[in-house]
Amino acid sequence: MIQSVVVAGSGTMGAGIAQVFAQNGFDVCLVDVSANQLTQALQKIKISLEKLEAKKLVSDVQGVLARIKTSTDLAVRPLSDLFIEAVYEDLNLKKELFKKADAIFAPQTLFASNTSGLSIGAMASALSHSRALIGLHFFNPVPVMKLLEIVTSEKTTPKAVETAKWLAQKLGKEAIVVQDSPGFATSRLGICLAFEAIRMLESKVASAEDIDKAMVLGYGHPIGPLKLTDLVGLDIRLAIGNNLHQTLKQSQFEPPALLKTLVTEGALGQKSGRGFYSW
Ligand code: CAA
Repeated sequence: MIQSVVVAGSGTMGAGIAQVFAQNGFDVCLVDVSANQLTQALQKIKISLEKLEAKKLVSDVQGVLARIKTSTDLAVRPLSDLFIEAVYEDLNLKKELFKKADAIFAPQTLFASNTSGLSIGAMASALSHSRALIGLHFFNPVPVMKLLEIVTSEKTTPKAVETAKWLAQKLGKEAIVVQDSPGFATSRLGICLAFEAIRMLESKVASAEDIDKAMVLGYGHPIGPLKLTDLVGLDIRLAIGNNLHQTLKQSQFEPPALLKTLVTEGALGQKSGRGFYSW
């Protein structure tokens, strides 16, 4: 079974994934090309753990932190049981990373991608024949959101699916199993709603606040689609939308002009201080 995990990419998702594994007793190494980014990730993890400690959901913050090591060297722990990538949503970047990792990690290390919707099968093409690959799609904020979307492709063995379900249970998540198809179940539906909300804002149907309020108070969503886009990152949602539009060729996935403009201007949502809202 899985005990040791290497997480590649220490952005919001990678840091959150490292945190939940460490919280649940796994030994984690968080790897990134940027040492500075790793330092920031550890700070975010500490803040999140302290919030959870205040609610008595975590009892030993220092103990959890001690289970998270960091490194800028992908080859730091080649014998780990699980390698999960959470780097930027770019298929070529992910394929390159998997190709490198394939040459480093032991043959029995299970490979996983946290992609929001890129093809698991296409990533698997970068791997040696015998290597199992599975999609383990977590949700932001990872320590809070209860879902783990398990994505299977031809390169996913039944054993890998069983391991993923076991992991979900160990991490306190509920699993769903989805076949490898663009955007899986979650991003495909989530992007439709977000893009329509952006098009409504473009055509001045209502303000950002009122469009969000419509979904929060009228439909019981925890947060409106525009604010959620700010939290996820406008660049991330644009990348997901571009992939869905290219692969499914359906007009609802065509990224709205306003989204493209904001991303070009560097308005990426909460992380940049401006998106559909000011932060
Ligand atoms: N760590 C620990 N606790 C956290 C946290 C974190 N990173 N982020 C939020 N929380 C806690 C807060 O401390 C707070 O606790 P209390 O209620 O006890 O005070 C609680 O969560 C709620 O937080 P807030 O009061 O700050 O704000 P909120 O009520 O709006 O809730 C939220 C925040 C849980 C994120 C909620 O807005 C929500 O559920 N939003 C929807 C999130 C969502 O849809 N995520 C999926 C995004 S898509 C994705 O991730 C996939 C992808 O591939 C891009």
